[in-house]
Amino acid sequence: MTEYIKTKWHILAVLIAVASLSIALYGCHYIPFGEGGNKDGVSSIIGVSQANMREEWRVALINELREETDKYEDIRIVTTDATGNASKQIQDIDNLIGFGIDLLIISPCDEKIMGDKIKEVHDSGIPVIVMDRAVEGFDYTLYIGPDNEVIGQQAGNYIVNLLGEKGGDVVVLSGNPTSVQGTERLSGFKSAVENVKNINIHEVYLGTESKDAAYDMTITAKRIVKDADVVFTYSDSMALGVCDALRFMGLDKKVMTVDCDGFKGVDEGLDLVSQGRLKATVSCPIGGKEAIDYALSILNNESGVPKQVILRSNIIDSTNVEENLSRINAETADDGRKIKVGYSQVGQESNWRLANTKSIEESAKEFNIDLHMEIADQSQEKQFEAIRSFINEGVDVIVVSPVVETGWDEVLREAKAAGIPVIMSDRNVVVENREENLTTTYIGADFVEEGRRAMRWIRDNVSKTKDTLRIMEIMGNVGASPTEERDQGFREILLENPGYEISYSDYGDFTFEGGRKVVREYLENNEWDIDIIFSQNDDMALGAIEELKEHGIKPDVDVKIISVDATTEAFEAMVRGELSCAVECNPVIGPQLMKAIRDLCSGKQMPFRIITDEKVYDQAVADEYIRKRLY
Ligand code: AHR
Repeated sequence: MTEYIKTKWHILAVLIAVASLSIALYGCHYIPFGEGGNKDGVSSIIGVSQANMREEWRVALINELREETDKYEDIRIVTTDATGNASKQIQDIDNLIGFGIDLLIISPCDEKIMGDKIKEVHDSGIPVIVMDRAVEGFDYTLYIGPDNEVIGQQAGNYIVNLLGEKGGDVVVLSGNPTSVQGTERLSGFKSAVENVKNINIHEVYLGTESKDAAYDMTITAKRIVKDADVVFTYSDSMALGVCDALRFMGLDKKVMTVDCDGFKGVDEGLDLVSQGRLKATVSCPIGGKEAIDYALSILNNESGVPKQVILRSNIIDSTNVEENLSRINAETADDGRKIKVGYSQVGQESNWRLANTKSIEESAKEFNIDLHMEIADQSQEKQFEAIRSFINEGVDVIVVSPVVETGWDEVLREAKAAGIPVIMSDRNVVVENREENLTTTYIGADFVEEGRRAMRWIRDNVSKTKDTLRIMEIMGNVGASPTEERDQGFREILLENPGYEISYSDYGDFTFEGGRKVVREYLENNEWDIDIIFSQNDDMALGAIEELKEHGIKPDVDVKIISVDATTEAFEAMVRGELSCAVECNPVIGPQLMKAIRDLCSGKQMPFRIITDEKVYDQAVADEYIRKRLY
């Protein structure tokens, strides 16, 4: 905290405000300064605006935030409870700001209504960490939350394996239908169990998420429950109600219970698994630890802060509960030692890739990492070779930016057997069984969102001169995650908006020549009749532009061109009036990656995904931003 010292006047003003606020505010949970009101040495105040304090995990979040801040003598938190009311949450935030907070952590009551307020705070210069429910747009500092859909799927897959070929009867106990978390968990659960042969689902609705309601309902539904093999419910409190009711009815040895949450503490998920009362829980970190960790990095202006962190959820049953409890309780610390990392880089196909390699090499030095990088020239075989050589060398961590998504299971298993964790950088892989945990985390962009952003820009900016606008899609290389996912996101928004069609698409391998070739081949067989080109990267768009110009077709005038990456070359093309729009894909992920490597080696749990900060630029703003481009 030494780098973030406030003036004494600031501290004094804050302390006076704390005192007044604690007296004046109803519903504001003031966490007093130090023992006996000692106010010296406070450098930062973190305001926490909680949506409500009815839901169990929200109380757990506040407790975890408090526990974490207690570790730092110069940090204080002030929390407010919006009681589920968005107008009150807006008022709470104004009060916190008046109070002099340096950073806001918010779990919004309603992500749509609160979006504007979050933007206002962020624009005023106060960093904002959004938790649990993501808001649309880019106007916040960091989002931290779980993937509730995946949590539900993990529980569903576990039950499918548990019941095996024979299958069985599963009672699904669902709580409050307005709970976004619950609804997403249920939907993930159903996607995993529905259509599985021999599994019969019986849904029971509670209307609330309390332990008592779950207890009563389990007894009321005895007729169905007594013949079930498993009861699934999506929170620890409901699971405790179910377990108590099963015990009361003498069914606890016959009917298994599986839930989500996996909180620590007496009679919470992990404890119930340890006691043998809960068959399994899908644990999801609450995120308080991570929020304070990142809050400190933000307040210290450190590099390596991403845009989104999607927390990791794990299946925990009797086989791994003790190991998980010790990991949760263990204190982690970075010993600062040099870490040896093997990096398999996909190639040198684009300006983006060159900037990406540079960022990784530079940050490795900054974070005291001994980096061994192998460039694979777009060959999966070469990547296998590199990974195997890293295993033989005995590096601490392997990082891979894979040329294609599939085919990695075997080599990843070899790394796992050698005890070397693997991080996916920039591009992700699809493995056969996620529960094998063959990779530790993914750091990079949200490619699906990039595709959506490209199509949203088209929807909002390209005039509809005819009933159906014809789009040419120039894709990257076959089977790569940016190719598949950008296409997926683009089509998702296209389908929601009538009047557009993808009339032609081909692969340009992310290279200048590839983009040029796609346009050339089209023109060899067709009169030019395309209204919009969506190019999955800048290099291909620039190649396409050159080819169009050679045929007398004016880029941006005769055809709108939207690409992904937003490199300096793309900005120059926008300033020249040739490229219409560039959706950013940030190659400068070295700092986030190196921070994650250090965290991993100091024993911290890795999130599922760490997503970088990205925006959308068009000709209207290109001139303003071109000077600030870092790549
Ligand atoms: O994986 C990221 C993509 O790969 C970039 O968009 C592209 O330019 C690169 O080659």
